[in-house]
Amino acid sequence: MLDRLSLLGIFCQLLTCVSAFQEEWMVPNRSNVTTPIGNITVSAGREAVFNCVVNITGRYKVAWVRAEDQTILSIGTKVVTHNSRIMVTHDNLHTWQMRIKQVKESDRGCYLCEVNTNIMRTQEACLDVNVPPDILNEDTSGDLSISEGENATLWCRASGHPQPRILWKKENGEPIFIRRSFRNFTKVETYNGANLNFWKVDRTQMGTYLCIASNDVPPAVSKRVLLYVNFSPTIKVPNQLLGAPLQTDVQLECYVEAFPNTINYWVKNRSEMLLNGTKYLVREERIGYRVFMWLVIKSFAAKDVGTYNCVSTNSLGRAEGTLRLYEIKLNPVNTFNNRAELIAGLTEPARGPRSKEVLTSSTAPQMIKPMFWCWLMYFIGKIGLR
Ligand SMILES: *[C@@H]1O[C@H](CO)[C@@H](O)[C@H](O)[C@H]1NC(C)=O
Ligand SMILES: *[C@@H]1O[C@H](CO)[C@@H](O)[C@H](O)[C@H]1NC(C)=O
Ligand SMILES: *[C@@H]1O[C@H](CO)[C@@H](O)[C@H](O)[C@H]1NC(C)=O
Ligand SMILES: *[C@@H]1O[C@H](CO)[C@@H](O)[C@H](O)[C@H]1NC(C)=O
Ligand SMILES: *[C@@H]1O[C@H](CO)[C@@H](O)[C@H](O)[C@H]1NC(C)=O
Ligand SMILES: *[C@@H]1O[C@H](CO)[C@@H](O)[C@H](O)[C@H]1NC(C)=O
Ligand SMILES: *[C@@H]1O[C@H](CO)[C@@H](O)[C@H](O)[C@H]1NC(C)=O
Ligand SMILES: *[C@@H]1O[C@H](CO)[C@@H](O)[C@H](O)[C@H]1NC(C)=O
Repeated sequence: MLDRLSLLGIFCQLLTCVSAFQEEWMVPNRSNVTTPIGNITVSAGREAVFNCVVNITGRYKVAWVRAEDQTILSIGTKVVTHNSRIMVTHDNLHTWQMRIKQVKESDRGCYLCEVNTNIMRTQEACLDVNVPPDILNEDTSGDLSISEGENATLWCRASGHPQPRILWKKENGEPIFIRRSFRNFTKVETYNGANLNFWKVDRTQMGTYLCIASNDVPPAVSKRVLLYVNFSPTIKVPNQLLGAPLQTDVQLECYVEAFPNTINYWVKNRSEMLLNGTKYLVREERIGYRVFMWLVIKSFAAKDVGTYNCVSTNSLGRAEGTLRLYEIKLNPVNTFNNRAELIAGLTEPARGPRSKEVLTSSTAPQMIKPMFWCWLMYFIGKIGLR
């Protein structure tokens, strides 16, 4: 009985002691500050260590308190809060160390080291928890598919601490073309800001954009956002009028721009679709939304003279280019012995420019070439007859 009573007595004393402490800590007096602890910044998941240096002779107790809600975390080395990540140690009652393992964002805030002497001494230190950036997918644009000429906005949001910076760049390293009106446009390597606005988007702005979020905490993160710009096909024909001598191979060329992808084919005389085979060689090369179409007519014959069309269709429309092919009659009595060289020279215009630049063609300059060759033939013929 006596044992039980004395146990109860000790328990009561402890209880009183603890509640007394709690009451005492409730209104901490922060006016008497000893050695400052110093603020701490750690990355989430790491450990935070606070050192409270106490240089007092006499009896005292040290408590750690969370400033925000005055929660007592520890008294002496005893952790009184339900948090297994907190540990308190001391070296000869001099430096009182509180460690918070695997720091979480919720640990961010200020902590008090309270030294209970006659006049309570309090030190405060704040913990900042850094969190690497993370892109918020639900708040970031997905791939976007719009019609040419419409406005478009790509947006991107990220979490993290400190607040991450957002920048945009093109995946292929090309500059971003930013246009705000017809007159106001710039090209930038990177664009800073969460929203990337395109005014009246055009085909050249199609591509893969990267939203990159970074703060002081590595690693930076990025997300790919594809911008598709849809438009119906347009066709450019570098050489609309082609002359060639019989027996030669003639190459016809068209240049298509369209998105989404097109189906392309060649038609002769508005009726016959031309297929790859022994007579025709059909070839195309696609670079992004650009398609180069070639038709080689092997061993050009009189029946091949006529009108040819390159046709391109996609879900938004259809376009066609027209080419006319005629025979260049070589003068049968000419004394020109290097015929092969002449033919090579004649077929040259049929190949057209190789450059990737936008090819523009007008009929007028093309008309000069046959005329020129015609006169050349005429004069060669004249010289030959003499
Ligand atoms: C805090 O302590 C100072 C002396 O260091 C005292 O003058 C002041 O009244 C105390 N304040 C409170 C709220 O206890
Ligand atoms: C802190 O308290 C001690 C007594 O414990 C006193 O001598 C000293 O002046 C106080 N310092 C301040 C800044 O209040
Ligand atoms: C503790 O205080 C005494 C005198 O008050 C001083 O001589 C000593 O250097 C102090 N020690 C530390 C570690 O601050
Ligand atoms: C510690 O951090 C708090 C809150 O961020 C700030 O008010 C205080 O000035 C900082 N103290 C020091 C010494 O940097
Ligand atoms: C595009 O945005 C401009 C202003 O930025 C606005 O005046 C125009 O009406 C918009 N066009 C469309 C098709 O939404
Ligand atoms: C272009 O537009 C931006 C944003 O609206 C503006 O800050 C800038 O001054 C404009 N530049 C010109 C040359 O008008
Ligand atoms: C092409 O069509 C025209 C008229 O439609 C016709 O006169 C000509 O013979 C045709 N040429 C060939 C090679 O089919
Ligand atoms: C036609 O054949 C050539 C070679 O035989 C090939 O390179 C080309 O891709 C073919 N074109 C089509 C449209 O199949």
